[in-house]
Amino acid sequence: MNAPLLKVEGVSKSFPGVKALDDVHFDVSRGEVLALVGENGAGKSSLMKILSGIYVKDAGTIYLEGEPVEITGPRHAQDLGIIIVHQEMNLMPHLTVAQNIFIGREPRVLGFLDERRLNRDTAVLLARLGISEFRPTDLVENLTVAKQQMVEIAKALSFDAKVVIMDEPTSALTQTETDTLFRLISELKASGIGIIYISHRMEELSRIADRITVLRDGKYIGTRERTAVTQHEIIKMMVGREINENARPATMRADNVDDVVLRVEGLSTKKLLRDVSFELRRGEILGFSGLMGAGRTELARAIIGADRTTAGKIFVNGVETTISQPAHAVAKGIGYLSEDRKQLGLLLDRDVNTNILLSSLGRYANFLGFMKTGPGKGTSRKYVESLRIKTPSIFATTKNLSGGNQQKVVIAKWLARDCDILIFDEPTRGIDVGAKEEIYRLLNELVERGKSIIMISSELPEVLRLSHRIIVMANGRITGELTSNEAEQEKIMDYATRISQ
Ligand SMILES: Nc1ncnc2c1ncn2[C@@H]1O[C@H](COP(=O)(O)OP(=O)(O)OP(=O)(O)O)[C@@H](O)[C@H]1O
Ligand SMILES: [Mg+2]
Repeated sequence: MNAPLLKVEGVSKSFPGVKALDDVHFDVSRGEVLALVGENGAGKSSLMKILSGIYVKDAGTIYLEGEPVEITGPRHAQDLGIIIVHQEMNLMPHLTVAQNIFIGREPRVLGFLDERRLNRDTAVLLARLGISEFRPTDLVENLTVAKQQMVEIAKALSFDAKVVIMDEPTSALTQTETDTLFRLISELKASGIGIIYISHRMEELSRIADRITVLRDGKYIGTRERTAVTQHEIIKMMVGREINENARPATMRADNVDDVVLRVEGLSTKKLLRDVSFELRRGEILGFSGLMGAGRTELARAIIGADRTTAGKIFVNGVETTISQPAHAVAKGIGYLSEDRKQLGLLLDRDVNTNILLSSLGRYANFLGFMKTGPGKGTSRKYVESLRIKTPSIFATTKNLSGGNQQKVVIAKWLARDCDILIFDEPTRGIDVGAKEEIYRLLNELVERGKSIIMISSELPEVLRLSHRIIVMANGRITGELTSNEAEQEKIMDYATRISQ
């Protein structure tokens, strides 16, 4: 039997005002990793939700092992062996690993839960995947995101999975955790499972994909063997135009060089930061590089008053300033865009317009607190257009936007807030390559208008692409500083791995 493991033909799906999928086809074979890529809002997650029984397709046919199947719901998809590893974890935090894996299917003797067998079965499953990072009896709430994801994968395997779907699984993982995930994926492959893998990280494709299928605006663009295509070609298929991946930072205006807008002196926190000092100038994009856990987010949080400091001073425009809570920071003109997607501060049930204007309420609300829609709408429309936020209108409910487009709304919100100093923490996580360029362009525009930006990013090409200067951190300290002219990946990595005493 040579039929592919899973085949999708002519699938379409519409939402009010959006044709999310338009006559899409693709297939995946046993033991293969098929990467599904495309811009934010291209339809990747919607397609996967159809396969896992969350959405019902409007048209098309799904074949599993050559037989047409009508997937009626999530439970049915599981029974068929199509398992989705959600980006937003679906585990019960207060239960153990074993209880989570076998929830609703626990082994019983005479009607009683057979705890020993539950844990033993789980141990076998974990051993099969070579997972030694946690035990069946560990509580899920004590596990890191990466480990929770491993639990999800073990759970997938326990269902006799045929197809495992992973929607942006690495977006919150460190490098080592990503390596572990890739090892698990090889295990799944070796046991004949077909994997559908969604990611915006192009460099991952060359590591694990066998074939790559590209979607754009809900339409099928093409499928390539990984070995027969370059990253550049895939990006071109995704965004439909050329992108200059080697662009460098715009030069900073020379007259701003002595104009220090933020000076941090000897900042320390109880947990991690040790004596951090630096200056940010008007019109500058200051990149912060380092490995995960180096202390960059902690530094941002200490500056905006979200975490207590144990020593240090902060000067805004030359004046020493005490910032003891994030609201003070905003009042002083310092905005912080958090890296934590769950804490993006979006009101998911409200429309895009409200979310964009949310933090600038002062300017757009009348004396009763009602939104002044006139000038506000114009601002929202401007950002929806310039960031290419894919939404039927600015009055669409935010939760209906694709993941990456929700992220863009957060960026728009901070751009609209018009702070003089903006701290962006991993701003382009989950954002497609084309849209990243739009965001870079906007950041450059902001600094040209005299704003200053601190940009924390784990993606070296992004730091190099944007920053006038780069500060590297390791273990809560600054270990190096580079100008954009001297900066290169190797030098940054060298500083980032320097373990200071
Ligand atoms: N429940 C819904 N209601 C209305 N529109 C929706 C719904 N789910 C998805 N859409 C729309 O369908 C389109 C495709 O979204 P989808 O989430 O599939 O994109 P994606 O390719 O996964 O993007 P991303 O890379 O940003 O995650 C988007 O325009 C989105 O707004
Ligand atoms: Mg998605």
